[in-house]
Amino acid sequence: MRIVVVTLFPEFVEHAVGFGVLGRAIERGVLQVETVNPRQFATDVHKTVDDRPYGGGPGMVLKAEPLRQALDAAVAKLPAARRVYLAADGAPLTQRKVAEFAGWAELVLVAGRYEGVDERFVEQCIDESVSVGDVVLSGGELPALLVIDAVARLLPGTLGDAESAVQESFSDGLLDWPHYTRPEVWSGCTVPEVLASGNHAAIARWRLKQALGRTWQRRPDLLAGRDLSDVERKLLAEYQAEQDATRREQGQN
Ligand SMILES: C[S@@+](CC[C@H](N)C(=O)[O-])C[C@H]1O[C@@H](n2cnc3c(N)ncnc32)[C@H](O)[C@@H]1O
Repeated sequence: MRIVVVTLFPEFVEHAVGFGVLGRAIERGVLQVETVNPRQFATDVHKTVDDRPYGGGPGMVLKAEPLRQALDAAVAKLPAARRVYLAADGAPLTQRKVAEFAGWAELVLVAGRYEGVDERFVEQCIDESVSVGDVVLSGGELPALLVIDAVARLLPGTLGDAESAVQESFSDGLLDWPHYTRPEVWSGCTVPEVLASGNHAAIARWRLKQALGRTWQRRPDLLAGRDLSDVERKLLAEYQAEQDATRREQGQN
C-alpha cells in the first residue's frame, strides 16, 4: 500500500514511521509512506501558507491554494488514492473504517494545522474527513500516523503470528479479553486458573466471557449494535452474576 501525507512537518511523519511494526512494514515493502509539504507551493518570499480568518477571531487558517497544489502533487504520485482530511469535526475513525482504508492500494492523508484549513479546499478536494476522537490536537500529523499504524496492521505481511490482528479489540465488535504472562503469581495475584489448565475449549469460553463482560462494562454502545447469540447471552449473564457476587462479597451494593 502507498500513502502520501500532506503535511507542514514532513520530518515528523517520516521519523515516526520508522519504528516497530510500522518500520518493519516499510522495510518489507508492504507499506510505503511519502510526504508532500504545502510550503513548497507558497509563492512569497516568506513561504506563507496561512492567513487570518475571515470574520475575525483568533488563530490562522491554512490557505486553500498551497494545499490544493500539495494535494495535486500527492495525487500525481497516487492517482487512484482516496483523499482523506484529518479533522476534529470529521466522522469518527473506527476499526471498520480502518479496514476499508486498508482495502485501498493508495491513500492521501491531509494534516491540518492552526485553526484548520480553508473550508473550500475540503469541499472541492477531499473525499472524506475523519476524526481520531473527541479531542482537539495541534495538528493532523498524529491523527495521520494513527491511521497509518492501524491500517498497516491489517496489511498482509505486516504482522507476525505473535502480533496477529485477528483477535483484537473491535475486530469482532467486542473489546479484547485480559492477557497474562509469567510468572503465575505476581504481587500477590494469581493468573486465572483456567488459563493454565490446558483445556482449550474452557479457555476459549473464558476469553469470550471476559470480552463480552468488558465490552458490557466499558463500551455498552458496542453491545447495543450487536445481536448476541444464545451462547454469548449466557456467558454475559454468567459474567454479570460473577460481578454481582464479587460486589456482595466486598460489601458493595
Ligand atoms: C488545532 S486543530 C483545529 C481544530 C479546529 N479549529 C476545531 O475546533 O475543530 C488543527 C488541525 O489538527 C488536526 N486535528 C485536531 N484534532 C483532530 C482530531 N481529533 N482528529 C483528526 N484531526 C485532528 C486537524 O487536521 C486540524 O486541522
